[in-house]
Amino acid sequence: MGSGIAQLFATYGHEVMLVDLTDDLLNKALKNIKSSIVRLKERGVIKEDEMAIMSRIKVSTDTNTVADSSMAIEAIYENYSAKADLFKQIDKLLAKDSILASNTSSISITRLASNTSRPEKVIGMHFFNPVPVMRLVEVVKGLRTDKLTTDFALNLSKELQKIPVLVEDSPGFVSNRILMPFINEAIFCLSEGIASKEGIDDIAKLGFNHPMGPLQLADMIGLDVCLDIMNVLYADTGDPKYRPAPLLKKMVAAGKLGKKVGEGFYSYKA
Ligand code: 3HC
Repeated sequence: MGSGIAQLFATYGHEVMLVDLTDDLLNKALKNIKSSIVRLKERGVIKEDEMAIMSRIKVSTDTNTVADSSMAIEAIYENYSAKADLFKQIDKLLAKDSILASNTSSISITRLASNTSRPEKVIGMHFFNPVPVMRLVEVVKGLRTDKLTTDFALNLSKELQKIPVLVEDSPGFVSNRILMPFINEAIFCLSEGIASKEGIDDIAKLGFNHPMGPLQLADMIGLDVCLDIMNVLYADTGDPKYRPAPLLKKMVAAGKLGKKVGEGFYSYKA
């Protein structure tokens, strides 16, 4: 998600500092960005040369390099403590009027903001995978987010040629409150032997005109991400309707995390 967001901002003229844990991850991100830009150019979506867009993306493994940014967007894994620690760190680095956004899929923006000295400048900007293609940005307003910051995020999304939808802070927001129980229920159907994985996916593709079935989509999102989101929905609402499917937990425990590792519900090994 982070590389997709960096690509999007650079495409629309912004200077980007992409920070990740290792050089390997950063090199992989740059490779993905380049091939995505080439695909978009082939389709005529963008006209600018890929090297010109890529020249606006700097990379680093040092979080301190974000200090001069007018905005930082956190897009690490879906874990409250990890995000809270990063928010505390970035809050100390950024100028006091800079905006701190999170691409969290489900975690409370209000709670994340409470780790900073600028809760009125904290907002959720939830992008969708693949970021360069999906048109939505779910803009999530925390309880203390001010109007200036909300308007900024809405206008910025439009400037990036996306369509923003503003939602209140609530577990899973709207997108994942709808999507994840759908995926989770598909996994229950599979584990109960109601249909094959292909059958379940065909029902969504042929019956609802979805571009991909819920099990294919889970593989694309990452099964660990799906489980993290279900856990947030379950923990934050206390509602048993959000309990993660045991098969989802088992797949994650087995390291079958989806497309990114070559195996999930489907195999992606060459
Ligand atoms: N970069 C650039 N272009 C890309 C791309 C990328 N990363 N991925 C796909 N494309 C382009 C292709 O070039 C192609 O262009 P064309 O239509 O002009 O030929 C187009 O997108 C479609 O790609 P493909 O032909 O390879 O494959 P599909 O037609 O199957 O589309 C898909 C792929 C866009 C992923 C489509 O299957 C889809 O929309 N799937 C659903 C995605 C979805 O639901 N995303 C949301 C996930 S939830 C989320 O992210 C939130 C989080 O919190 C969990």
